[in-house]
Amino acid sequence: MNDKNKIKKIAFGTDHAAAEVRWQVKDYLISIGYDVEDFGYDGKGSCDYPDYAKKVAQAILDKKAQKGILICGTGIGMCIAANKVKGIIAATAWNEDTAKLAAQHNKADILCLGSRTATFRDICNMARVFLDTEFEQRHQPRITKIKEIEESQL
Ligand code: RB5
Repeated sequence: MNDKNKIKKIAFGTDHAAAEVRWQVKDYLISIGYDVEDFGYDGKGSCDYPDYAKKVAQAILDKKAQKGILICGTGIGMCIAANKVKGIIAATAWNEDTAKLAAQHNKADILCLGSRTATFRDICNMARVFLDTEFEQRHQPRITKIKEIEESQL
């Protein structure tokens, strides 16, 4: 990615399933140069992942962050919840290739990862690749059709 388009500010959130890796992943993202706004979770018990998906998605809509990283047990719940926020595209990934394609083909705003389905190292690598990959404009017509589906819903 060239410097002009480089992502700098990211919104970050997890649920309790990712409590163990959250600090390490956050520290890693900071160590590779990102300005990370952390929306939790900070608690000890269990929590509800849609609360964090909504906060991270809203930060992107408010332009407080350019991209988001969400982590729950599988990435699936966070992905479902974040995609309910109008204007947001969230994707889950299971390796570096799919993390890259989520940015390159699907124009994802948020990558949703699983603490129970990936190692700490894999989570860091997928997040890095996602944040470092530019959208390819030739895929814009498909994204426009996705937005049209969203707009056509009541
Ligand atoms: C929480 O136990 C778990 O359901 C959640 O982290 C996530 O994996 C949901 O998709």
